[in-house]
Amino acid sequence: MKLGVPMEPEGETRVGIVPSSMKKLAKAGFEVIIESGAGRSANYHDSDYEAAGATIGSREDALSCPNIVCIRFPGVDGIAKGTNLACVSDPFRHPEHVKSCMDAGITLLSMDMIPRRLSRAQSMDVNSSQDNLAGYKAVLLGAAHVPKGIPMMTTSAGTIRPAKVVIMGSGVAGLQAIATAKRLGAVVYASDVRKSAAEQIESVGGRFIEVDGMDDFEDESGYAKPLTPEFIQKVNDTVCGVAADADIIVTTARIFGRPAPITVPSSAVQNFKSGAVVVDMNADVGGNCEDTVKGEITTTDNGVIIIGTSNLPGTLATTSSMLYSNNLTTFMTSLVNDGEVVISDEDDILVGAPEGSDFYVNGMGGVLICKDGEIHPKQTRLGGVL
Ligand SMILES: NC(=O)c1ccc[n+]([C@@H]2O[C@H](COP(=O)([O-])OP(=O)(O)OC[C@H]3O[C@@H](n4cnc5c(N)ncnc54)[C@H](O)[C@@H]3O)[C@@H](O)[C@H]2O)c1
Repeated sequence: MKLGVPMEPEGETRVGIVPSSMKKLAKAGFEVIIESGAGRSANYHDSDYEAAGATIGSREDALSCPNIVCIRFPGVDGIAKGTNLACVSDPFRHPEHVKSCMDAGITLLSMDMIPRRLSRAQSMDVNSSQDNLAGYKAVLLGAAHVPKGIPMMTTSAGTIRPAKVVIMGSGVAGLQAIATAKRLGAVVYASDVRKSAAEQIESVGGRFIEVDGMDDFEDESGYAKPLTPEFIQKVNDTVCGVAADADIIVTTARIFGRPAPITVPSSAVQNFKSGAVVVDMNADVGGNCEDTVKGEITTTDNGVIIIGTSNLPGTLATTSSMLYSNNLTTFMTSLVNDGEVVISDEDDILVGAPEGSDFYVNGMGGVLICKDGEIHPKQTRLGGVL
């Protein structure tokens, strides 16, 4: 079973598989072909892969394997009909990726569609592994740009009060951001639209920002539901009010398959302190702050620094590649049956939980997006956007 790992497109520093995964892949029967130089930007070198048992080849060699794993959608050029392609294809925002795979007869396995509530899926959940690191890095970026210290310090020249940090959205990234800011010594406030987040926020040392009239805006898959414009306004007013005297504001809010919601309108930025830093973790998907410029760090007229750094997991490429590779290795080896990769309609990770079960999500399948030119019949929500 050949498994190809192509180089990622320009701007992506991570790599899909790292040398330490080679042993587990080989044990499952995979022969791994890495495009030469694919791991260089994440500090994994051809010699490391070779020493771990992989073969170094050309791009063509990697793309001609019957199984391909990577991070970004690599396009379909050079990939044969019937190939299994596992990557993060972002199918709701990029339905053209799905269409091109359907036209080329490629089996698309989109890792961002993992039915994450299944306990077996947790070790394969690339959204969680990458968001966790991104949440950590967002706080470090904020701390590096804010013109003051974070922890309380008692010095002979006087006492410094701890910094105030506000985290907007408390999913995987937000919870890690809260924990990181807390470890740095900040006083941390956090919001979410899922009421169930309150307990999790408190368990990592944050103070939950309660919004009047909050219900549980959580869907059956554990993600936040879209909110009414009136309620969004109310959440934004309350949370931005708490953030008005904050030193660092980290925004992580997302709604599955939709553009990022605005949680910091320009009018709120006008009320933030001079020197405050907003780290927008969703700069790549539209931004949570109205004033964010994707990929840039800007300063507003009233002195607020807005960080729109792209691809935060990619700024920790060595670690994020390692976790992604662990996720992918667990996933790919789970598909092996009798020495073959089997794309089975019985596998809940591939097709979602069965109808009637606790984890069934209407309109959503699993990782399997299309095969033999057809979209998987359980992906009806996705079918609606194609
Ligand atoms: N295996 C599992 O069961 C599993 C795995 C991963 C995550 N989860 C859970 O899934 C949930 C979602 O986590 P995620 O990291 O994927 O979320 P996400 O990345 O989709 O979104 C980030 C957070 O933003 C929140 N949000 C959306 N709109 C908002 C707004 N206007 N204001 C404030 N917050 C807003 C969401 O509720 C979410 O908590 C969490 O409860 C997480 O613990 C479960």
